Amino acid sequence: MSKNTMKHLAIIMDGNGRWATKRGLSRTKGHEAGAETIRDITTYCAANPNIQTATFYAFSTENWKRPKLEVEFLMKLLDRYLQKELETYQRHNIRFLAIGDTEAFSAPLRKRIRLTQELTQNNTNLTQILALNYGGRAEITSAVNRLIKEGKQHISEEDISGALQTPYSDIDLLIRTSGEERISNFLLWQISYSELYFTPTLWPDFTSKELAEIIKNFEQRTRRFGGVK
Ligand code: IPE
Ligand code: IPE
Ligand code: MG
Repeated sequence: MSKNTMKHLAIIMDGNGRWATKRGLSRTKGHEAGAETIRDITTYCAANPNIQTATFYAFSTENWKRPKLEVEFLMKLLDRYLQKELETYQRHNIRFLAIGDTEAFSAPLRKRIRLTQELTQNNTNLTQILALNYGGRAEITSAVNRLIKEGKQHISEEDISGALQTPYSDIDLLIRTSGEERISNFLLWQISYSELYFTPTLWPDFTSKELAEIIKNFEQRTRRFGGVK
């Protein structure tokens, strides 16, 4: 008998660069391999009747610090990914949503993001959220500014939850690959009571088999939410 049901899974996909370097390849090859993993994990989540939302950290507000060529490659890869995966979204009834400040992206990429969101908006099996130019602090700050603009005199936790860009739901489980054990400015507000799981597996090597094991582990954990159990 499982103790917990996982509705919302979040993943910090880390280790693409190290995966490639270990093989004597350029970091970009690691990102390409990582994109394949996103597809596999997303379709696995779509086939799991409990999981409603899977949120993937693809590009942080801090990732602009990387070499220009790597950033450009990531933008091109994202465009290619969305174009190629439209078929996957439709076949598996997956809705695509972007969070983060995509205004900083090129006009064609913004258009691709908008179009993919529109074309998949009625899909109901799973919502796949890609965090793109996303930062947890930036998300909370814009939520607060939005509430101020609306004239709120007093701001409650529910107000902030409702004003966030991420369609609000607490994250049940947050996984980070590659052995790093930090949050790197991901969903700060939403993970207050998430279960955390860190695996040494580099993202391109991450499989649905490992995910299934991690979910089993999650299902057996005792979540107390501050109470007594
Ligand atoms: C994660 O892999 C992908 C992005 C942050 C875009 P990294 O590129 O961070 O890989 P490592 O951490 O350098 O191995
Ligand atoms: C976090 O990975 C961001 C994404 C996975 C998109 P990073 O590789 O950028 O994080 P740090 O710099 O190691 O904390
Ligand atoms: Mg990294």
